[in-house]
Amino acid sequence: PWSEPRAAGIIAEHVHLEGATLPILHALQDTFGYVDEGAVPLIADALNLSRAEVHGCITFYHDFRRAPAGRHQVKLCRAEACQAMGSDALHAQILARLGVDWHGTTADGEVTVEPVYCLGLCANGPGALVNDEPLARLTADSLEAALTEKMS
Ligand code: FES
Repeated sequence: PWSEPRAAGIIAEHVHLEGATLPILHALQDTFGYVDEGAVPLIADALNLSRAEVHGCITFYHDFRRAPAGRHQVKLCRAEACQAMGSDALHAQILARLGVDWHGTTADGEVTVEPVYCLGLCANGPGALVNDEPLARLTADSLEAALTEKMS
């Protein structure tokens, strides 16, 4: 879990680096699984930046999570071959069903959805990963079934 003293220690270890913001954010995410809101003022003070600048950096790079990830990770392929199989419409349907946007986590903390760009399932698209297990010929129903199985 998030710990301010630990975060402060991590920031202190990296503060001397040139362009320290990104290494600090990566180190915080590696340690805590996300970048807690409470890190923003610590980083801003350590690097003499405004809080808005630190926020800007966190939101600009989609790698950074602002909240802990869900227990299950869904990765949906947005690359070309899957798009040709209708992935855009399918993703819209899936996101609506889960009530999240890209990079979002369901309200119950169960599922986080991330985009990926080609999983090598192009011939059997649309492709997805559920907790790193590949799902070919994805549909909203097959994804729901896979998630239900994981949660049971
Ligand atoms: Fe989606 Fe290759 S383009 S798996």
